[in-house]
Amino acid sequence: MGIYAEFLKTAKDAAVEAGALLKTHYFQLNEIRFKGEINLVTETDLASQALLHDRLAAAYPGHDFLAEEGLQSLRGAEFRWVFDPLDGTTNFAHKLPFFCVSIGLERRGELVLGVVFNPMSGELFWAEAGQGAFLNGTRLRVSSIPDVRQSLLATGFSYDIRETRCNIAQHERVILRAQGVRRCGSAALDLCFVAAGRFDGFWELKLSPWDTAAGAVLVREAGGQITDFLNCPVNIYHPEVCASNGLIHNALLGLLNET
Ligand code: IPD
Ligand code: CA
Ligand code: CA
Repeated sequence: MGIYAEFLKTAKDAAVEAGALLKTHYFQLNEIRFKGEINLVTETDLASQALLHDRLAAAYPGHDFLAEEGLQSLRGAEFRWVFDPLDGTTNFAHKLPFFCVSIGLERRGELVLGVVFNPMSGELFWAEAGQGAFLNGTRLRVSSIPDVRQSLLATGFSYDIRETRCNIAQHERVILRAQGVRRCGSAALDLCFVAAGRFDGFWELKLSPWDTAAGAVLVREAGGQITDFLNCPVNIYHPEVCASNGLIHNALLGLLNET
């Protein structure tokens, strides 16, 4: 057990509780509101965020909190919880059962903890810095595929795909060289799947801190690599993310950076 064991338990309990809320709402899907053109925000995002904030702030009132639906309680605390109350909102809104709760914890800017829960599959992923990555208690390890040509990769496309620099050219380059490329719709789960060796790599151009915080700890603790496109260690406040089993990292970055 690591020094963050108590934080980990609080985060796991909160993720499972918020996941149960998502699942209940999923089966009684009702009002859907629109944020931007195709970014669906449901009452569920807000309810899950409120629940997570309640639980985490009750346990750690002196900590900072940053979450997708406008939560920014930032007072310069040593610890900052960075969470996405529902990652995979479009899937959720279309009743595709692939979404999650994602909770990361930073200590003085260093990621120390990640918890991701998919309530539809019951898969609870977690990792603590220096203590390994786990799925429902089983230790995770990234894949050992050494070559992009044999790799199953994943990516995502941001909501403003029609407006600014997007992933279409990179996607085309990579899909022609890899064994396959998936777009599952939840960046946090994509990262956990890299940690679990289900995907050999993942990239995306415009992620937010709450998409990446938890999954980055999972990838690292499972022996993988996670950087920006220039191969600098991941910074969750920077939008570009490339994660892999480490063995294909340089080759994947090379493909992403080809012009
Ligand atoms: C989105 C998902 C998706 C990714 C988008 C994210 P949301 O988060 O993680 O897989 O491609 O870039 O914005 O809106 O479902 O929380
Ligand atoms: Ca998200
Ligand atoms: Ca979200």
